[in-house]
Amino acid sequence: MSSNNFPTKHQKLLAWVQEIQELCTPDRIYWCDGSQEEYDRLCQEMVDSGTFIKLNPEKRPGCFLARSNPGDVARVEDRTFICTTKREDAGPTNNWMAPEEMKTILRGHFKGAMRGRTMYVIPFSMGPLGSHIAQIGVEITDSPYVVANMRIMTRMGSKVLDVLGEDGNFVPCLHSVGYPLEPGQKDVAWPCDKDHKYIVHFPEENTIWSYGSGYGGNALLGKKCLALRIASNMAHREGWLAEHMLILGAESPQGEKTYVAAAFPSACGKTNFAMLIPPAGFEGWKIWTVGDDIAWIKPGKDGRLHAINPEAGFFGVAPGTSEKSNFNAMASVRANTIFTNVALTDDGDVWWEGMTKEPPAHLIDWQGNDWTPDCGRVAAHPNSRFTAPISQCPTLSPEWNNPEGVPISAFIFGGRVSSNMPLVFQAFNWEHGVYLAATMGSEKTAAAAGKIGELRRDPLAMLPFCGYHMGDYFKHWLEVGRALTDPVPIFRVNWFLKKDGQFLWPGFGDNMRVLKWIIDRVHGRGHGVESPLGIIPTYQDIDWTGLELSPAQFTELTTIDRDAWKQELLAQEELFVKLSERLPFDLVMERQLLLARLNRSQAVWAPPQ
Ligand code: GTP
Ligand code: SPV
Ligand code: MN
Repeated sequence: MSSNNFPTKHQKLLAWVQEIQELCTPDRIYWCDGSQEEYDRLCQEMVDSGTFIKLNPEKRPGCFLARSNPGDVARVEDRTFICTTKREDAGPTNNWMAPEEMKTILRGHFKGAMRGRTMYVIPFSMGPLGSHIAQIGVEITDSPYVVANMRIMTRMGSKVLDVLGEDGNFVPCLHSVGYPLEPGQKDVAWPCDKDHKYIVHFPEENTIWSYGSGYGGNALLGKKCLALRIASNMAHREGWLAEHMLILGAESPQGEKTYVAAAFPSACGKTNFAMLIPPAGFEGWKIWTVGDDIAWIKPGKDGRLHAINPEAGFFGVAPGTSEKSNFNAMASVRANTIFTNVALTDDGDVWWEGMTKEPPAHLIDWQGNDWTPDCGRVAAHPNSRFTAPISQCPTLSPEWNNPEGVPISAFIFGGRVSSNMPLVFQAFNWEHGVYLAATMGSEKTAAAAGKIGELRRDPLAMLPFCGYHMGDYFKHWLEVGRALTDPVPIFRVNWFLKKDGQFLWPGFGDNMRVLKWIIDRVHGRGHGVESPLGIIPTYQDIDWTGLELSPAQFTELTTIDRDAWKQELLAQEELFVKLSERLPFDLVMERQLLLARLNRSQAVWAPPQ
């Protein structure tokens, strides 16, 4: 190809593309323009090759189903690396290897990795095109599935090259599924490298190399790799925040708009909360969705924090999503959506556990096998997902594309904890809030590696995503808050308390009741009482219109058991010792203060009625 055939004159980009071409030796190169025609053509090619199944256009127009290799179904945290010159800079919560050592290994894997395939060049923008908050990336991949997903998840194509110009900054993101084809070798529906996977970040040079997996955050490199692991490093250097948070705006019947950002670990309810539908009794309230997974938050000239959603789509958990639990997500996936690892119905539609009360009598499961309700297997993989354009969300905020972002009035942190963590409480101040966020625990879901249900510390829901030393990250949070004119109030929530195996809290739309209390507190009109953990609402402080929940049930949701909490403080020691080299002393003090408050509290504390 002669150089005047390239759609850009950006020398650095052209040189990098050429370098990767020489390393990976694809059969051909294709520069993505981001057009609908290109998307349709790639989807058709994937239907022809067996990667995609076209769904019934009458039921799901413009929709496709992909089934991954059963060994490639989620992010691989144990194969994710932060490669900094000094090991300490990655910190004890990240896997580390020296950059040159890692590059030697990776060059070995990438050498010839794209043989027999097309190498796609995907220019993309995280954040509104040309916004001062946005970042441009270029992903090179040999997966058309990645191209199609990136077109939904990011602003992608020629328009990004226009913004990049001849010398703009971009983050080089290299990806290969690691399944080269010998001449004449037939491809498989989901190529990947069964034995070797590497998701690697070089934060000192802002580059990403991902090898061996085609799934989600492993392969759509704008998402976790750029927008969280690399961006958290940029944010640390430049004084802003890159967080695993949803962003929503709540509009009261009086038209008052309050934006909040909330961090819940993977598969713990961000998508649900981001597009919540207020329950009966909350007529006139409206929830506006700005984002469901990632927030970039910058201090503005007004002394407040402003947040943007760097993404343009949802890569949402399918199981549990129904018209009842998340009507807006169901509306978002009615058309133009890619489904991965869900089940196929006999009439060419999709199904997953929890979508309807009664499962269909027959399905093809996520692995392509016949499925009946009595077969003893799940039909959809627990981490099966939909990729849908955010523009299809009925509650999409008019502010979604605003390059200045939305002003954040509260931070909310919530894990999946079945006991000993109240429904909601507010931190006494910023430092206390950072302590509560830093010590957050959550029971593991199918989105993460490891044993499902096991409690693990997931500080700020960023354990798998913070691209530098977690102790420095806590310090950064303390500093960002202190620089604000008015520190943003911080809350903890927990929708997942259980008794006899049943959830105590109805959750979903009813989370609006908790959100309303939070909003009232933010605006200085909500009442609460002081508990050892923080400010907690009494039964009277929550709006119960339309829900029957007794004071006794509320007590179960807000009780603080002193001995159980002392055990929790002991358990936090593990994280603190692990991070001790760089743990801010403020957090140690906060834990000590909490212990002192517990010591002067009753054995079992509950808000007065
Ligand atoms: P990632 O995309 O993995 O970062 O996760 P997410 O936080 O966006 O996950 P999502 O909102 O898709 O969470 C899905 C799971 O949370 C499903 O199993 C839901 O049933 C469950 N869930 C969401 N909200 C609630 C709630 O209010 N109560 C209960 N009990 N479960 C909830
Ligand atoms: C998560 O696991 O938090 C996700 C899905 O949002 S993935 O993009 O695959 O990481
Ligand atoms: Mn996520």
